[in-house]
Amino acid sequence: MNYSGVIERYKKYLPVTAKTPIITLKEGNTPLIYAQYLSKMMGKNFQVYLKYEGLNPTGSFKDRGMTVAISKACESRAKAVMCASTGNTSASAAAYAAKAGLKCIVLIPHGEIALGKLSQALIHGATVLAVDANFDAALNLVKEITAKYRLTLVNSLNPYRIEGQKTASFEICDALGNAPDFQVMPVGNAGNITAYWKGYKEYKGHHKINRLPKMLGFQAEGAAPIVKGHPIKNPKTIATAIRIGNPASWKQAERARDESGGLIDMVSDKQILEAYKLLAAKEGIFVEPASAASVAGLLKLVKKGYFKKLRITKIVCILTGHGLKDPDRVIKTVKEPKVVKANLQAILKEIGY
Ligand code: F0G
Repeated sequence: MNYSGVIERYKKYLPVTAKTPIITLKEGNTPLIYAQYLSKMMGKNFQVYLKYEGLNPTGSFKDRGMTVAISKACESRAKAVMCASTGNTSASAAAYAAKAGLKCIVLIPHGEIALGKLSQALIHGATVLAVDANFDAALNLVKEITAKYRLTLVNSLNPYRIEGQKTASFEICDALGNAPDFQVMPVGNAGNITAYWKGYKEYKGHHKINRLPKMLGFQAEGAAPIVKGHPIKNPKTIATAIRIGNPASWKQAERARDESGGLIDMVSDKQILEAYKLLAAKEGIFVEPASAASVAGLLKLVKKGYFKKLRITKIVCILTGHGLKDPDRVIKTVKEPKVVKANLQAILKEIGY
């Protein structure tokens, strides 16, 4: 198939016209991978699938929203875009702005974003400002600046971002032939859960599916404002992508949870790292820590006996970003390679032959 990106594939459902210049890096069309180990672990009648969003062009789901946001910015003759980011949004904005020939300015929390993401924003030529504040404060600054000056905001407060990101739920339904029973995902600024839920409801409205999934969102324990019911001043977690204390789409996330009959819960850094290692070691999939929050959440719910064995139950976990984004975390999590002498005997001894 000659694949041309999410706008081309789903334009019927997107706010684009023949006049919209389409800026694409052929994002989307990511694999929905059957998780053999996790399915087996859950027992008979359970099917777990992993939506590997780390395989988007810049390594995260943000590209789905960015193709629409940047295309619409071009349509409205914008010259520059701006965002605050824990890393992935800035990487994606920088890449799509580069392709479109737009100036891109990003604010990141100083010292708190993964190296891969920082490298991406820099190499794509964005103006990167590391501010001495957390993501929430950086986003407030970006909102203030973009309201006053001719700069287009490309955080998920920009509705075109949500429009693009909803295409992931279309892909899941197209692959499964219907909506799954449950969808599990990490929640940070809460744009993505908002987008998925919008997508599922629209697909049902178009009779492409005949049921809706329960939305199960997971925040990191030290950054769980929605679970705790109040903003967190100093959010803390090793999952830097979701180190957010006051999500912009808080209300919409609660709506997705309540309308779907799902839940928003939290997982500890320890649970996140366990799921991170399990995904790599048992499923062959390398994700960044924030993405592992979905599988950590699944495992937490399994332990609690949340899932009832009734009939074939399909669960989709969203793996939002690639593991190569944050290689430092691997080195901090697993043993570094052993240094051995360059001789046959030493190596054979180490490998037990
Ligand atoms: N997973 C990853 C890898 C992310 O980068 C993010 C958010 C999320 C999950 C949570 O998604 O915010 O829509 O609830 N990253 C943003 C950024 C905040 O700036 O890159 P959300």
